[in-house]
Amino acid sequence: MPDPITRRDFVRTSIATGLASGLVVPGLAVARSANARGSDQIKIALIGCGGRGTGAAIQALAADPGVVLWSMSDVFAERLESSLKGITETMGDQAAARVLVTPERRFTGFESYKPAIDAGVDAVLITGYPAFRPTHYRYAIEKNKHVFAEKPVAVDGPGVRSFIETAKQAKAKNLATLVGYCWRYHDGMVATFDRINSGAIGQIMSVHTTYHTGTLTKRPRKPEWSDLEFQMRNWWHFTWISGDHIVEQACHSIDRGSWAVGDRIPLRVNCLGGRAARTGPESGNVFDHFAAIYEYEGGLRSHHTCRQIDGCPADNTDYVYGTKGSATVNGWVPTFETRDLEARRTWQYDGPADRDMYQTEHEELFKSIRAGAPINDALRGANSTLMAIMARMSAYTGQTVSWEQAMNSTELLVPDSLEWGPMPFPQVAIPGQSKLV
Ligand SMILES: NC(=O)c1ccc[n+]([C@@H]2O[C@H](COP(=O)([O-])OP(=O)(O)OC[C@H]3O[C@@H](n4cnc5c(N)ncnc54)[C@H](O)[C@@H]3O)[C@@H](O)[C@H]2O)c1
Repeated sequence: MPDPITRRDFVRTSIATGLASGLVVPGLAVARSANARGSDQIKIALIGCGGRGTGAAIQALAADPGVVLWSMSDVFAERLESSLKGITETMGDQAAARVLVTPERRFTGFESYKPAIDAGVDAVLITGYPAFRPTHYRYAIEKNKHVFAEKPVAVDGPGVRSFIETAKQAKAKNLATLVGYCWRYHDGMVATFDRINSGAIGQIMSVHTTYHTGTLTKRPRKPEWSDLEFQMRNWWHFTWISGDHIVEQACHSIDRGSWAVGDRIPLRVNCLGGRAARTGPESGNVFDHFAAIYEYEGGLRSHHTCRQIDGCPADNTDYVYGTKGSATVNGWVPTFETRDLEARRTWQYDGPADRDMYQTEHEELFKSIRAGAPINDALRGANSTLMAIMARMSAYTGQTVSWEQAMNSTELLVPDSLEWGPMPFPQVAIPGQSKLV
């Protein structure tokens, strides 16, 4: 068997020459280099080495024996080092052969994604803050890399548009993009939504999804932190970085609401929201509750409520009502069932319950790359993200927001370039006064 490094070099050359001649596309080239036992290396870069990034890297390594972690990037050096330590410890005696992030391939700072992606990798895990996702994705696809990108894909309309444009390039180059709407890879969810989509409860008349939970960590200011660092360390609570919790967190439920209606595009949304219980500068400018009503062609209304307030009951259920019955779906307290119109249970999921959805999504991703048919669910991920963004826009302004208004919005929340230092503290939006842009 040829030396894998030599073969990879050959693959790179064929990508370069093939692309120039229009004969070879990168995804196919990588796949053809993989032998049947999956022993060829797929080098990956991790961009954003926090909780999710660390998990994603471990899942990518577990998904395919040929995957090696090759380079890492984080804004903060200590996050990168603690992530690397966690990955190395988890990989145990496999770490020496598969966690190959030598010191010269550890990059920090706002621009660190570039050298990490340019370090000779085949695939990139993009798991930093949502604000930066479109930029990181564009660069990775320009450089012909397969991508795993966490949700949400952006925080504003221009970011979603950019992500969609890049996704088109990824498709044309036969590069993978898997967006981390992980419930789409959960066995119980897939079985239930397959039933809903195949008409088991009749025509869908109404949907209500919930994401009711407590608040996220607050990190009090340290004297050495600049304004920007303070906001970055408390990123969940700043709309320009996270998109607000309806976009950053509750987008999972909004995505499932969309799944329930066959991923149709809503016409418009009316969303109420506010900030009742957040206190202190660490809680930034995000709201703490939203209630959205999406309207679809034909009159269907889909409701979503989310809350991040301590001391209130939690819920993460999808309630789907059809002409023949209903479905109740909850991944936290596993519930996957349908009922008839008299509320008698007609079906419940009794298949495998031991597969971790995060692991499954990475297995599907790398299997598709090896097969030369890379997954690309970027458009669906972008649409679900835009649904969440349009609800936030509606709640902040107090206006009805159409799909087109959100998609064509010129509201750019993320500065073009960032340097540690002063950063204005963003205002909390006031419905009826904040302008729809
Ligand atoms: N699919 C899921 O179930 C799930 C679960 C948790 C988080 N997430 C998503 O994953 C993303 C990360 O969340 P997390 O919980 O890991 O947050 P985190 O704060 O633990 O980690 C994010 C890391 O990214 C780094 N980072 C931010 N911007 C960067 C940039 N421009 N370049 C390089 N590094 C950068 C941060 O310094 C931090 O170390 C978020 O979008 C979040 O919504 C998804």
